[in-house]
Amino acid sequence: MSGAPVLSVRSLTRHYATGAGLVRALDGVSLDVAAGELVGIFGPSGSGKSTFLMLAGLLENPTSGEVWLAGERVSHAGADLDALREIRRKRIGFVFQKANLIPFLSAVENVALGLEIADVTPADARVHGRRLLAALDLAHRADSLPAKLSGGEQQRVAVARALANAPPLILADEPTAALDRVRGRQVMEIFRRIAATRGAAVVVITHDPRSTNLFDRIVHFEDGRVCERPQIY
Ligand SMILES: Nc1ncnc2c1ncn2[C@@H]1O[C@H](COP(=O)(O)OP(=O)(O)OP(=O)(O)O)[C@@H](O)[C@H]1O
Ligand SMILES: [Mg+2]
Repeated sequence: MSGAPVLSVRSLTRHYATGAGLVRALDGVSLDVAAGELVGIFGPSGSGKSTFLMLAGLLENPTSGEVWLAGERVSHAGADLDALREIRRKRIGFVFQKANLIPFLSAVENVALGLEIADVTPADARVHGRRLLAALDLAHRADSLPAKLSGGEQQRVAVARALANAPPLILADEPTAALDRVRGRQVMEIFRRIAATRGAAVVVITHDPRSTNLFDRIVHFEDGRVCERPQIY
């Protein structure tokens, strides 16, 4: 279906039964993200941001509600997450707070590993990986092991890995939290560029108020819901 949002979530809830009672981690969130759009998710600790990302990224099932990708319903309460693995790998790129690179593989090998196309040879995958690293100003670090890279460089390698399959949707959970201000800004600007030049839909959870001017739209979470009139925090 052309013209459909890349990501559309409908009345999404995720409840956890705990010893202390029912936790409504997510409590009825609806949100659309279009191609080329960079959306920031802000909200206090425990407001459901990571839960939202896990559900939108098909890593967990909702208790109720639906996740649609490009006009196709892919996830709901009874969905088979294993069957969604292919969709997840090819159509969603994830970036987390820690780069989580494989320590004994070079930067370019880490990126090439993200490639999930069956008929790509390892040599072609590395060529592709070098191209992605070059686009993130890391050509000169392609053959370095992660331990030789700065935190900001490692995180940019993680971004390159997330881009390996040219996914239409990028989901990032506090990707700059472990970086200093300058490096954090660099990574955020890369997300801005990915949305603008690759037409990806990009959703970034962040606590950093200095990045607000980069987003097309900011969504505030509070108590598992989208909050229309957020408090300043
Ligand atoms: N597996 C779980 N079992 C029980 N409760 C959970 C589980 N996962 C998350 N929660 C609860 O759901 C709520 C939302 O958690 P979530 O991790 O989505 O918050 P967050 O907005 O990402 O917070 P932070 O900014 O601290 O990362 C919290 O109250 C949390 O304790
Ligand atoms: Mg979180």
